[in-house]
Amino acid sequence: MRVGILTAGGDSPGLNAAIRGFGKCAIGAHGMELVGFRDGIRGLAENRTVPLDSSALSGILTIGGTLLGTSRDKVHRMVVDGQTRDMVPTIVENYEKDGLDALVMLGGGGTAKNALRLANAGLNVVTLPKTIDNDIAMTDTSFGFATALEIATDAIDRLHSTAHSHHRIILAEIMGHRAGWLALGAGVAGGADVILLPEIPYSIDRIVETIQARTERGSRFSVVAVAEGARSIKDAGEIQAAQAWIREADSSEGKAAAKRHLAQVEDSHRENTFQLARELESRTGLESRVTILGYVQRGGTPCAMDRLLATRLGSAGAQLVADGEFGVMVAARGEDTLAVPLTEVAGKTKLVPQDHSWVQAARQVGTGLGD
Ligand code: F6P
Repeated sequence: MRVGILTAGGDSPGLNAAIRGFGKCAIGAHGMELVGFRDGIRGLAENRTVPLDSSALSGILTIGGTLLGTSRDKVHRMVVDGQTRDMVPTIVENYEKDGLDALVMLGGGGTAKNALRLANAGLNVVTLPKTIDNDIAMTDTSFGFATALEIATDAIDRLHSTAHSHHRIILAEIMGHRAGWLALGAGVAGGADVILLPEIPYSIDRIVETIQARTERGSRFSVVAVAEGARSIKDAGEIQAAQAWIREADSSEGKAAAKRHLAQVEDSHRENTFQLARELESRTGLESRVTILGYVQRGGTPCAMDRLLATRLGSAGAQLVADGEFGVMVAARGEDTLAVPLTEVAGKTKLVPQDHSWVQAARQVGTGLGD
């Protein structure tokens, strides 16, 4: 069998470990031939390939990023020479020209949507779940999350030093897109005093109360873990209204207009964490600072848990390809791996349930959640 492989969406620790896990098993155990596509969907559409033999897979387990490169393109709406084009037919042509029997795509929610479109166009596709956000539906977790969690937790630990030495409020903005897993996990593990999540819109009054209660107890500092998607009750209401407009739009023009409106609303919230810091400073009298953790959370060597997960899911993916099981994502479920149809993954997001055990634990130790 001749199999193509690519990495798509944001880079993430564990991508190379998963390429290696899939490749070693595909080549060694199943005698397959492996071809990499450069720069994700873009390289697939432009048919930029690189042969991946056993030696190319050696020494990459611990390396961050992706040796193949990545991009955030969509198969059905790619900007080529200034024009937005549907590249699905071109991709199908390339797949046939390259003599592929299957295509393995490593990525998150956006990649699942791309993969489903390609599967519907007749390609034999398998995906592996990658994202630091932990927001992919139907899998317990994704590689990249455990490493990012370690990095964000370490950052919160370090921010405590300055917060308590200078009697400041420090807001650490943590990635996660529209889900709060990373901020919640790092906030609980790092002992943040307040954790703000997209799933629990916050009231500034409640945050001020939590911080003032700490001051009264003699702790004149606070560390606030802010998920990048966390919003005040008012701002969350604006987003929900914009999302409802998208759902209810009954024409493609209407949907496009509604999506543009949502993008504008989200853009107007861009400085959210800084605004919150200013408001907290004026209401508590404590100097407030913001630290945006940013891409630091996605970089560097994967932790042991991510290497294990990537190797486990990668080799399970090779087995699925060998068995001819396509149109699926390899999911982690407890200690097992299972094949979940892409139709159950694409277009869905796994958010933090309000009653999740991490949320309950945060509340029980007195962490403020802004509600
Ligand atoms: O999905 C991973 C992620 O790092 C999100 O947490 C974040 O919102 C987004 O990617 C940032 O995207 P970009 O790499 O395009 O800036």
